Amino acid sequence: MLTLGIETSCDESAVALVKDGRLVGEKLATQIDVHALFGGVVPEIASREHLRVLPRLFKELLNETGYSSGDIDNIAVARGPGLLGSLLVGVSFAKGLSLSTGAPLIGVNHLWAHLLAPGLAEELTFPALGLLVSGGHTHTYLIKSPTEFELLGRTLDDAAGEAFDKVAKLMNFPYPGGRYIDELAQESEPDTKLFPRGYIENTSLDFSFSGMKTAVAYYIAKHPELVFDEMADPAAIAALTGERREAMCRVCASFNWSVADTLRIKVERALKQVRRVDRIIVAGGVAANSMVRETMGRLASNKGLKATLPKLSLCTDNGAMIAYAGSLLAEAGYSHDLGLEAIPRGHVIPLDWKNNKTNSAE
Ligand code: KG4
Ligand code: ZN
Repeated sequence: MLTLGIETSCDESAVALVKDGRLVGEKLATQIDVHALFGGVVPEIASREHLRVLPRLFKELLNETGYSSGDIDNIAVARGPGLLGSLLVGVSFAKGLSLSTGAPLIGVNHLWAHLLAPGLAEELTFPALGLLVSGGHTHTYLIKSPTEFELLGRTLDDAAGEAFDKVAKLMNFPYPGGRYIDELAQESEPDTKLFPRGYIENTSLDFSFSGMKTAVAYYIAKHPELVFDEMADPAAIAALTGERREAMCRVCASFNWSVADTLRIKVERALKQVRRVDRIIVAGGVAANSMVRETMGRLASNKGLKATLPKLSLCTDNGAMIAYAGSLLAEAGYSHDLGLEAIPRGHVIPLDWKNNKTNSAE
């Protein structure tokens, strides 16, 4: 079974082909450089870029893998959550292709796809505890099967990646700055008293990162040497030396620790609530963070659980995760008709698929 995956939910245009659970090819075009000029994703530019590059990526994918569009058995597309204008480009492309080839259409929840993606590299077992930490979302789920996700906790304000990017912006790092904080953090021990952890003095499974970010903002306002005079490029960050570098590394390590330890506390709490999982799956862009990986790996091993931490290229947005999640849905009999709607961020993704195994709309 050959499944095409299409991803256009934010600032990455991506397509991939998965055959019988294995990746056979993928193409990705990132728009990071375009949006970096504005310090964040500009939705109108994002959709225009998707429209410009998506047909070319699809053509290149077919050329490189030797398949033709007629060989595709299922067309999976990220239908949300994301930027509406961007999602619409991918969803419209998928509908056109479905109409012309006759292959069934499958709308995929982008967040579920992040958490299922590691299944491309290792066998996943369920139920599992999922921690999704990306630029737009911070969610914990009880994943009962590839088609049954129960939301346990979510962020009440900023997503973890958003907090990384906002702190990076305060220091004048390039956008998106999460990875620069990670890099500098690795050179220093964290000061665990410097910044608070977020929303932990309660029994809630929800997250809040805005207080932590504000604490960093106050600290940085009092220490102007922690801020680059103008937006730094990676070379300027690499060239940083001496006490200034040490001070920046310490702030990055301390903030990174506050995020990672907050995630640990909430995941530990979620594990107590769900009890019977034997695996933690961490996914999304922030799953690329060294301290988050180490913390989650340690937590899992302390609890006698398996930790699934996808390789870095599977952490950030990609087409392979959409193709793979789509192939699992297709195997379970799910599909959508051409009425499939794109769902913007902040809205619940409906389970409005049809199941040809039970012959019902669910
Ligand atoms: O999952 P993703 O590619 O996009 C969304 O669906 O949001 O995640 C992007 C986010 C950005 O906020 C980026 O700064 C963050 O992931 N990120 C990191 C690291 N690499 C990417 N944050 C911390 N440490 C990293 N190494
Ligand atoms: Zn994502």
